Amino acid sequence: MRVLVTGANGQVGWELARRVPPGVELDAIDRSVLDLAADDATARVLARRPDAIIHAAAYTAVDRAESETALAQRVNGDAAGAVARAARELGARLVHVSTDFVFDGNAARPYPPDAAPAPTGAYGASKLAGERRVHEESAGEAVIVRTAWVHSAHGNNFVKTMLRLMRERERIGVVADQVGTPTWAGLLAGALWEVALNRSVGGILHWTDLGVASWYDFAVAIHEEALARGLLARPVAVEPIRTEDYPTPAKRPAYSVLDKTATLAALGAPRMHWRAALRAMLDDLASQSTTETP
Ligand SMILES: NC(=O)c1ccc[n+]([C@@H]2O[C@H](COP(=O)([O-])OP(=O)(O)OC[C@H]3O[C@@H](n4cnc5c(N)ncnc54)[C@H](OP(=O)(O)O)[C@@H]3O)[C@@H](O)[C@H]2O)c1
Repeated sequence: MRVLVTGANGQVGWELARRVPPGVELDAIDRSVLDLAADDATARVLARRPDAIIHAAAYTAVDRAESETALAQRVNGDAAGAVARAARELGARLVHVSTDFVFDGNAARPYPPDAAPAPTGAYGASKLAGERRVHEESAGEAVIVRTAWVHSAHGNNFVKTMLRLMRERERIGVVADQVGTPTWAGLLAGALWEVALNRSVGGILHWTDLGVASWYDFAVAIHEEALARGLLARPVAVEPIRTEDYPTPAKRPAYSVLDKTATLAALGAPRMHWRAALRAMLDDLASQSTTETP
């Protein structure tokens, strides 16, 4: 079985490529093979003749999307639809990765998959457009997997930004009034593979690690776990701040916990509390830094 993975150079694409299940022939492609902003994605995907597709490429620059709205829409909306059209023509199963940013963050309980989307920014709007295009073009056959707060040893993410700032500064302030669930791309990749291979799973799924944290809680855990692993040489002060003290071009959801009840019942893929998954990611990061050539 031949599986096309887009976004091979991103966090999720990279973790998918490290965990290819037996019997799968991986066709992992990056922007050099398919530029979602410029190429005819339907034609490019058709030419590779996959049996299944995991579409993990996306325009993910949340703040820049506020000033590059048309580009975000083209990549996350139109091109996602074009990938879904190719999947339908080929009869290939499509797993499309989406985001908690389709919700407004005003809830006080975890968002179930059928909660009404209401994105507050251009990135979330472009991803919601992608979900809708994928649903239409696939006639409801594609599976949409929403996730949140993704981190990996590969690529750019909050964990690596925190480690850099903790090495550079004596104290850092981190937003304490936005909560969600950190998600290790390694476990997410396992879940995406299971969804790609198990045709009995469908619709919209929510996948994150388990538990709830604020960005501040997450930073405190990163600090403790990094010190324990020697990834940080000395402690720094990690202080809680409010969203209004850290203005960004895009408004972030205050509450973006996803309800995973149905997904966890449907999938057997390993899942962990976010803190245990953070430890696994940092162990991965530490092992890579020890194998790096100077
Ligand atoms: N990161 C998160 O916290 C988060 C949260 C919720 C949902 N998601 C979703 O999860 C999926 C994977 O995200 P990720 O964390 O792996 O993001 P990522 O590390 O930013 O990877 C995204 C990949 O998409 C590629 N890409 C961007 N524009 C492209 C274009 N025009 N043509 C082809 N490829 C393009 C990038 O290529 P280059 O490497 O060449 O730039 C990058 O490798 C996305 O659907 C994202 O919306 C992510």
